Amino acid sequence: MIYPIVIYGDPILHKKAVNIDESYPELDKLIEGMYSTMYKASGIGLAAPQIGKSIRLFVVDASPIAEDDEENTQLKDFKKVFINAEIIEESEEEWKFEEGCLSIPGIREHVERPEKIRIRYQDEKFNSYIEEFDGIAARIIQHEYDHIEGILFIEHLSAFKRSLLKGKLTAMSKGEVDANYPVKRPAAKKKS
Ligand code: NI
Repeated sequence: MIYPIVIYGDPILHKKAVNIDESYPELDKLIEGMYSTMYKASGIGLAAPQIGKSIRLFVVDASPIAEDDEENTQLKDFKKVFINAEIIEESEEEWKFEEGCLSIPGIREHVERPEKIRIRYQDEKFNSYIEEFDGIAARIIQHEYDHIEGILFIEHLSAFKRSLLKGKLTAMSKGEVDANYPVKRPAAKKKS
């Protein structure tokens, strides 16, 4: 199933998501649908809040960009499900890279993030792992992890950069969205 992607302006994107356990209904179907939705939108990561579910689940598949970054062997088979993730360590060293977000179509900006992370998470079978990631893999994880924390990449930008985007973002939150995949526009504010 292809889910419509929730667009900037919807409060669910600013909410901290909750953990889930084995009793979560039809998790396999949900994960499959998230992958289909992500591929349809040509994304490399998708978090559950972006399809309207405020749970700590995100999927990544970096294979579309693995060819661009042959040195980073972590990217080759970097297709993974992260459940109940917690970043437990971040490097002090940061680096800049351009990011975009399926929930904020048409906006791409350079974002500064820690180069390495250590993360605890569960896979789709609820096996637990603690792993280290760096480079692009770490960046994709941090971007998606932000989503389950209710944070968007534009929140990492300087106040000045954000002020330049304000017009576009306001228009987007009012439903002016140009995307080549199904979206869920934010509900119009009720007039009082
Ligand atoms: Ni995103």
